[in-house]
Amino acid sequence: MAHHSKTKAVIQAVVLAAGKGTRMGSDLHKVLHSLAGKPMLAHVLDNLKKLDASNTVVVVGAGREQITNMFPDIKTVIQEEQLGTGHAVLAAKNAIAQDSSVTLVLYGDVPLVSADTMQTLCNKVTQQRCLAVLGFRPKDTLAYGRLITDDTGELERIVEYAEASEAERQEPLCNSGILAGRSDVLFELLARVENDNSKGEYYLTDVVALARDAGYQVVTAEADPLEVTGVNSKDELAKLNSQLAEERDVL
Ligand code: UD1
Ligand code: MG
Repeated sequence: MAHHSKTKAVIQAVVLAAGKGTRMGSDLHKVLHSLAGKPMLAHVLDNLKKLDASNTVVVVGAGREQITNMFPDIKTVIQEEQLGTGHAVLAAKNAIAQDSSVTLVLYGDVPLVSADTMQTLCNKVTQQRCLAVLGFRPKDTLAYGRLITDDTGELERIVEYAEASEAERQEPLCNSGILAGRSDVLFELLARVENDNSKGEYYLTDVVALARDAGYQVVTAEADPLEVTGVNSKDELAKLNSQLAEERDVL
């Protein structure tokens, strides 16, 4: 197997920022709230720049004019209705080349993923291993989706907290939401995701089981919990801001 000799894959990025962010309790769009002195979305886009992606698409919806005013140069696609994370990525289909490149999915409200972590995740994708999912082991597993692996350590499926059994909720490996996949395969699988679940949403996470059913392998990578902390409320934003300040004091 000549995997080590292959050249770096072309990367395309999809950044999800269409959610309303109701839990922020603010008119300012969620991804524009400031973390360590700059908008959360700017953290994502700046880290992404270091990756040399060939194409970056931001999926926007509610309050999108705030985003395009602050970032006039980004390429956006509109998800008119927020029908779930899978539906949001699918909204970018026409703006993403459907080829053997790697599509990296990022969240506007998960601002601290480093370029190294992004690259490591993308490097795990090969022809047969069509998907790589970024997991983490937080102190408090809260309501995160859980990564269910098989006895060979490959990812079998992701179960959302709402759907998880008591036993599955004991699983310490959580879904960061961030994943990388072969562009053509990812979008083919996404088109087959259904919304027959407790939230009635199209879950991005369902592509894992669909990939396995189609005979592909799915792998995981693990991130430092701080890197994949998501921000859903002002409290969470304040907490992350002070965690970052502490880190700076230690250095
Ligand atoms: C998601 C994952 C969960 C994971 C968690 C990590 C799914 C189904 N679940 O859950 O496994 O543990 O993230 O934080 O993917 N968005 C859109 N359009 C939509 C819905 C969401 O753009 O229609 C965007 C949001 O703006 C946000 C991101 O997608 O940036 C995640 O959405 P959110 O509703 O916060 O997902 P979670 O329930 O947290
Ligand atoms: Mg969330």
